[in-house]
Amino acid sequence: MKQAIDKIQSEAEIAINASSNTRELTEVRVRFLGKNGEITAIMKNLGSVPKEEKPAMGKMLNEVRVAIEQMLESKEKTLAEAEKKARLLAEDIDVTLPSPKSEHLGTVHPLTIVKNEIIDIFLGFGFNVAEGPEIETDMFNFQLLNVPKDHPARDMQDTFYVNDNIVLRTHTSPMQARIMTSQQPPIRVVVPGKVYRSDDDASHSPIFHQVEGLAVGKDITLGDLQGVLTAFAEKLFAEDVKTRFRPSYFPFTEPSVEMDVSCTICHGKGCRVCKGTGWLEVLGAGVVNPVVLDMCGIDSKVYSGFAFGIGVERIAMLKYGVPNIKMFYENDLRFLKQFK
Ligand code: PHE
Repeated sequence: MKQAIDKIQSEAEIAINASSNTRELTEVRVRFLGKNGEITAIMKNLGSVPKEEKPAMGKMLNEVRVAIEQMLESKEKTLAEAEKKARLLAEDIDVTLPSPKSEHLGTVHPLTIVKNEIIDIFLGFGFNVAEGPEIETDMFNFQLLNVPKDHPARDMQDTFYVNDNIVLRTHTSPMQARIMTSQQPPIRVVVPGKVYRSDDDASHSPIFHQVEGLAVGKDITLGDLQGVLTAFAEKLFAEDVKTRFRPSYFPFTEPSVEMDVSCTICHGKGCRVCKGTGWLEVLGAGVVNPVVLDMCGIDSKVYSGFAFGIGVERIAMLKYGVPNIKMFYENDLRFLKQFK
């Protein structure tokens, strides 16, 4: 019996050392220590051992059982650690690796790109940003901007009337009145937003976007307007772009101007885009009409200001050479993907 026990111990030792993973080790444990295992089987044989040898054999068996148990435990620890290490290594993710190329990555819409560029430039000049309602009262959209009811200047803009007193705003200028009726100078603000006019052709859409600008303070002149808008054009188009200001008419500015920039395509020589003139019209502007200041509660004897309205679509068409305004709204991916 002693021989049999020694044999089990050495076999167990070999089997434990040969186990290369915890699953194999568990099999070894079952084979030797399990309910139908070899140690258990020998224990059952203890009955046939002569009485005087029994205690010694029992002791020996017990020692071997404990020894096997210890070997199993220490091997188990080593294997479990190795397996954990291997698993962590296999699951290792490099979070700095670039992700696989996706066919469906979105891009920023060209109108948003241009709008953000315009806003960024004016933020750099110290302007704030404000937004206002697209459904507007006749009061803010027209009357406080010096366009009384039944005034012929209403025909300048084809208006969508909701009812007699409510319109879809035809420009972002009502925000001039909203801001001036709610705060005193100094005011420096730009207002991006959607505007609506009953107008529809290759360069007009019933919904389009403007960025309004307003500066009110002491001693602000037409010269300030020209300086600020020329600096704006140089940043938006090119350092060497030229600007010119033509007299124009808006009820809420006096004097009123329209700003042209030298053609971004032919640089002033004359081409199809600028229709041979060398110039492109980009915005309307002017010195805030003192009548408007006073109506909005700002003393025109103390303060003056300038205002401008930039058409976002118009700028984007010029900047990117887009021939038809509708291309901005069709969401054709072949078009949109060109603005990465
Ligand atoms: N609101 C005018 C328009 O939509 C543009 C403008 C804004 C002109 C501010 C002068 C001052 O045509």
